[in-house]
Amino acid sequence: MRYLTFALAKGRLAAESLKMFEKAGIPCEEMKDKNSRKLIFTNEEQKVRFFLAKASDVPTYVEYGAADVGVVGKDTVLEEGRKLYEVLDLGMGRCRMCVCGPKEAREYLKHHEMIRVATKYPAIAKDYFYNKKHQTVEIIKLNGSVELAPIVGLAEVIVDIVETGSTLRENGLEVLEEVCPLSARMVVNQVSMKRENQRITQVIQRMKQLVQG
Ligand code: PRP
Repeated sequence: MRYLTFALAKGRLAAESLKMFEKAGIPCEEMKDKNSRKLIFTNEEQKVRFFLAKASDVPTYVEYGAADVGVVGKDTVLEEGRKLYEVLDLGMGRCRMCVCGPKEAREYLKHHEMIRVATKYPAIAKDYFYNKKHQTVEIIKLNGSVELAPIVGLAEVIVDIVETGSTLRENGLEVLEEVCPLSARMVVNQVSMKRENQRITQVIQRMKQLVQG
């Protein structure tokens, strides 16, 4: 039996997704050792292995089949636009992708003005403004702390993730429009879905039962 390989997005989702896999009957004891420098963790008994990767790389590993299954945020799935199957909403990490800015920016949006939009998610922002709103904007790619952009005058608005809304509040910004809801998704390589159908379907079913409680 070949190994079934799982790629998990590092950070907030990793610990929670591991807990879910454990509850679903796929524990990985090796991964719990915080001092380990290993990058890949194996459950020999079940012939599965897990690795952690930067979130934006998870869809790449899955598309190329280096991982059969991935767990990553819907934001990353949308932004990366990779060829893969999105099979399950895991219900964790719920938040929203929003257009945010100072309240004065509402007018620019209303009148479809040519504004600058700063974001870590240029593909999502482009799709929203060009295809959904039919508004021409200039998109400026940033790599983090995007809320700074409207404060220092780099852009009129941002497209970013809003979870509790406290980053916005503390910086005098607000949600102006909602782009889409987000949460963690389970994604599967398209060839693996056929070749390892039985094993992968079983994992999906077990995870689905957990999600549905
Ligand atoms: C995310 C997002 C917002 C913040 C939203 O940033 O980009 O900045 O969390 O959360 P809140 O609504 O609960 O305040 P992250 O912490 O991932 O870091 P980043 O600024 O480097 O993107």
